[in-house]
Amino acid sequence: MEPGNGEPKYILTRRDESWLASLAISLPDRPGALAGMANMVAVRGANIERLLYDRGRHPNRVELELSCAHAAQSGEVLDELGAAGLLAGPSSLAEPDEGPLAITDMAGVLSFKVALENRPGVLATLAGHLKEFGANVTHMCYDMSSGPGMVEASVATSGAAEVSALLGDLNRAGYHYHVLWRGGEDSEINEALGLSGVEAFLFKLRSSLPPERMNSLEELFSTSREVRQALAEFRGASGASGEILAASEVFANILRLAAMAQGSTGERFTLRLSGPVRLTPRVSLYMLTCPEGANSYLLCHPDAMAMLDTNFGVYFDDVSAWLGLHGFDPARINMVLATHPDADHAGWAGRLQSRFGARVYMHPDSVRVFAEEDRTLGRGPLKGINRPFTRLVGRLSGLVPPERIEPFEPADGECGGFPVIGKIRIADLEFLVLESLGGHAAGQVFYCNPELGVLFSGDYLLDAASLSPREREALSVHKSLLTSTNTDSVVFAKEMGMLRAVMLRMDEELHKMGGRAMVFPGHGDFYAVDRAGW
Ligand SMILES: [Fe+2]
Ligand SMILES: [Fe+2]
Repeated sequence: MEPGNGEPKYILTRRDESWLASLAISLPDRPGALAGMANMVAVRGANIERLLYDRGRHPNRVELELSCAHAAQSGEVLDELGAAGLLAGPSSLAEPDEGPLAITDMAGVLSFKVALENRPGVLATLAGHLKEFGANVTHMCYDMSSGPGMVEASVATSGAAEVSALLGDLNRAGYHYHVLWRGGEDSEINEALGLSGVEAFLFKLRSSLPPERMNSLEELFSTSREVRQALAEFRGASGASGEILAASEVFANILRLAAMAQGSTGERFTLRLSGPVRLTPRVSLYMLTCPEGANSYLLCHPDAMAMLDTNFGVYFDDVSAWLGLHGFDPARINMVLATHPDADHAGWAGRLQSRFGARVYMHPDSVRVFAEEDRTLGRGPLKGINRPFTRLVGRLSGLVPPERIEPFEPADGECGGFPVIGKIRIADLEFLVLESLGGHAAGQVFYCNPELGVLFSGDYLLDAASLSPREREALSVHKSLLTSTNTDSVVFAKEMGMLRAVMLRMDEELHKMGGRAMVFPGHGDFYAVDRAGW
């Protein structure tokens, strides 16, 4: 490792008979830059085994792994890259030093896959062909050490004629390539930038998701311009909020979550029904668990049914069909209660309303959250990133917001420090509506019945220990979504303490009469408070 000016510029490791140098270099964002660098490496006999570049993420940063026959050879290559000013340390690559290239003619943009042999000079030769046609590489991704010798690249040329000429040239030169995307007359810049970002993240996701789940995600991205735009917007905001949020990780997790939900519909859909829990002589509760997303609770009584929290919108048809087949006619759902307007809790509230005429009850701020697609309503440190986040998750998961939100019956007072903003009755069961202090999201309420010791807590008071391995995997996604997307994590922690205190007090009272307080959370199993281990 070279100390340089105090920061490592590359890492050199021994691998069997060769040496492997891992480094990030800084390349100018212009045609021919890649060819120049690749030539420099090739003339020294070194092989580029891995190359990652996504101009959408950083216009200059290129990650490389070079293999060399001996240490002296790697020293020569690295010296040469250093002398050319390309061997930049991590700090000089933290901020882009050039603005994004203005791509004005989308017909000149091309994404393709091409087969390359794993030996020195092959990338330099390909890059030479690209340079000849003025093609600027905007995205390139390959890994010869683990991949099947395929390079994925996106290039921007001056127009459709150059793209055709370039493809003809590659053909004549004997390359086996496959065109993935080609800019057309009606394409927009946003689409192309979003597309290259999508490619990069799909590439990452491929290592952690089975192919059948990738298919539905790829299909969603290829068919929905809105989703691609939301993604491009989110990526822009992630960069701005980088200091307070590991944006790329959350971003990858959102995609993963969406991929899981998208890939678990139709034939692959399953539903687990838990219960019944008899809450009152007239109201029985069932918990519905979809493959991914949040719990929904069905409160059944002789006259109708109420659904408390609805899952991702993409599950609506599957859940409706499942309920119909299992004796819970969904047309009987005449009330929907949601704890908060997040997509995994209110995803199909609008559909239950339009299809079956169900009345939807939520915090009145939910109207603005849906309209502005901003779950912070301008509050908290994450407000910049939360709007594109809300929009992206909504689009990916098929959120259909309700047209109209009913007011709760009036009530006031407070419960354990939470204002009581209303009440709601389901047959002989009445809930107080407690207003959150805003730790998780705007428009959050908790539904509480102190006499029965029942609380519907949304994304608060989850019992992670109750999860199956599959649910645990899903929760690791939720965990990241929840902790990283709390509007105010300090307030969130305070509210968790307040809710525990409320429930412990109720439990103490109920225990004297032989009962127990119960928490019905938005994720994981419901549980009795005395077994929570608080
Ligand atoms: Fe939430
Ligand atoms: Fe949730």
